[in-house]
Amino acid sequence: MYYPDEIVEEVRNRNNIVDLIGSYVKLTKRGSSYVGLCPFHNERTPSFHVSADKQMYYCFGCGEGGNIYTFLMNYENQTFPEAIRTLADRAGITLPEKEMTAQEKKERSRRTQLLEIQKEAAKFFVYCLHGAEGKQAALYLQKRRLTAETIAHFGLGYAPKNSRSLYTYLRKKGYRDDLLKESGLFTYDEKRGFTCKFWNRVMFPIMNQANKVIGFGGRVMGDGKPKYLNSPETILFDKSSNLYGLNYARSSRKPYLILCEGYMDVIAMHQAGFTNAVASLGTAMTPKHAILIKRFVNEVRLAYDSDEAGVKAAMRAISILNHGQIRSRVINMKPHKDPDEFISNLGTEAFQKRIDDALSSFMFEVSVKHGQYRQNDPDERASFLRHTAVMLLRFPEEAERQVYIEAISREYGIDARSLQDMVRNMSARMTERDIENYNSREDVRIIQPEKIHYPPSVNSLLISERRILTLLSEDSSLIRRVNGILSPEDFEDPMCRKIAEKMFASVSDPAGFSPAKILDSFEEAEEQKEAAAVFHEKSSDEMTEEEIEKSLTESIIRIKQIKLEKLIRDAKSAQDMQMIIKLKKELENFTLPA
Ligand code: GTP
Ligand code: MN
Repeated sequence: MYYPDEIVEEVRNRNNIVDLIGSYVKLTKRGSSYVGLCPFHNERTPSFHVSADKQMYYCFGCGEGGNIYTFLMNYENQTFPEAIRTLADRAGITLPEKEMTAQEKKERSRRTQLLEIQKEAAKFFVYCLHGAEGKQAALYLQKRRLTAETIAHFGLGYAPKNSRSLYTYLRKKGYRDDLLKESGLFTYDEKRGFTCKFWNRVMFPIMNQANKVIGFGGRVMGDGKPKYLNSPETILFDKSSNLYGLNYARSSRKPYLILCEGYMDVIAMHQAGFTNAVASLGTAMTPKHAILIKRFVNEVRLAYDSDEAGVKAAMRAISILNHGQIRSRVINMKPHKDPDEFISNLGTEAFQKRIDDALSSFMFEVSVKHGQYRQNDPDERASFLRHTAVMLLRFPEEAERQVYIEAISREYGIDARSLQDMVRNMSARMTERDIENYNSREDVRIIQPEKIHYPPSVNSLLISERRILTLLSEDSSLIRRVNGILSPEDFEDPMCRKIAEKMFASVSDPAGFSPAKILDSFEEAEEQKEAAAVFHEKSSDEMTEEEIEKSLTESIIRIKQIKLEKLIRDAKSAQDMQMIIKLKKELENFTLPA
């Protein structure tokens, strides 16, 4: 930041966020905050909240959030200096004139510079695609039926054969070797110096959801190996928390995302008008992806390859999505391999029909199971039925289970009554553990998608941590009461921990605590958004004092309980056990001191 903190704060204090945002979005008062339709994603019912007390905004639909500065930066695409100028003007404050000095330039955060490097590299690759050297690549993209518009929209480029030219280009722009080493774009060795990892490849820049290039995928034009080369993980590029195409898909007006396997699939789908398509970045789907997806939609349609690997990947993705409370359906791609080929051969309308007809993920799982047993062998058929009955136990609601029993009975010619009886029997006989054991038994021949290990109730823990910080941010007297009962280290989530540190530190700070100020201590938009989310986990707005106490106490107990479970898992000695027993007692009798 190029302006002193006091000025940043002064400008923030002299502007009211409700007035500012109110000039862009129609806001209605509700409780102590204001509500409107979110300007960052498409919605029909308002989930965008602006709080005068916190001087922050947050969207419960898409997770965008921040203070006055981030609003202008995200909504008007202003830089920070531009935003502060706009807001100073609004409040009639004169800012000191200041040019960036060489020293300040140097001190810009590494991350910002690394982002610039990726962007410059993307520009370089685009430039090469359109030059003489890029002829073959341009022809390749044409052969893959991409229009000039699509190529520009996705910023596709070409990495030339001369593997030093990108280095020379970036050095000329003033980037230092240590940064270039960290960019993931080069290999370095003493003898040859810097050479670009991508060489004679078609380049796909990978953008995060805020439209910033964070890495690349490069495809050979032909049959060379590897087919795709991807940037290594860097401080910018975390494969498990980004999705290719999400920067565009987030504002498509669809209630579901289409999840596919490849970059080319996403591009082909967007070109055909399916702008809600995304893909993971050359890796399998992870629980982090599910958390990301859940911020935008509650449903996903899988457009995975129709081969065995694709089916396996779909099974795994379904399970992860289920855990993330995201509904899923599976699109049948046969007889084609992937969406790109399907659309090329059968066209957009046929694909839309497949999307509409997508199979519910449960019925898909049943069909995969069905294919794993020889149905004309009585033993195997019986195993299939038993297995199906166990799967049906996942539905706690009788009525919902019944719907599926009927669907399975129709589809596979099984008597609905006997399947129902079987499910009842199983349910009476089996504990949850039995069901798990049953699923992993050899003789039922299940090809289990690798067992996924979830961190203990990651979502509910995060919610508890955020809820505590939200409640504390709304009543600073609570900070004093909780300080000492919980310490920052008790927070698992790194962002919650950082905020807890700042909050607890404010107990001894006469200026007290301000959520909007905390946001300014984070430089990255992503971090600011995450921080804003921390302050919006179920506000105490409409809660009675008693309810607040209860909610706070429960959240604290939850955190302590999970800590305790971890201790129990890791316990090695009798001493450990004694300590655990003691903690357990304390927890049973826990009340929040006045
Ligand atoms: P096209 O052949 O260009 O149509 O690619 P595709 O999108 O159909 O690719 P495919 O289904 O073979 O692979 C899906 C995704 O897996 C790709 O988009 C890449 O992200 C990733 N991938 C494929 N091949 C490789 C590889 O050789 N190495 C790495 N690291 N990733 C790959
Ligand atoms: Mn393909």
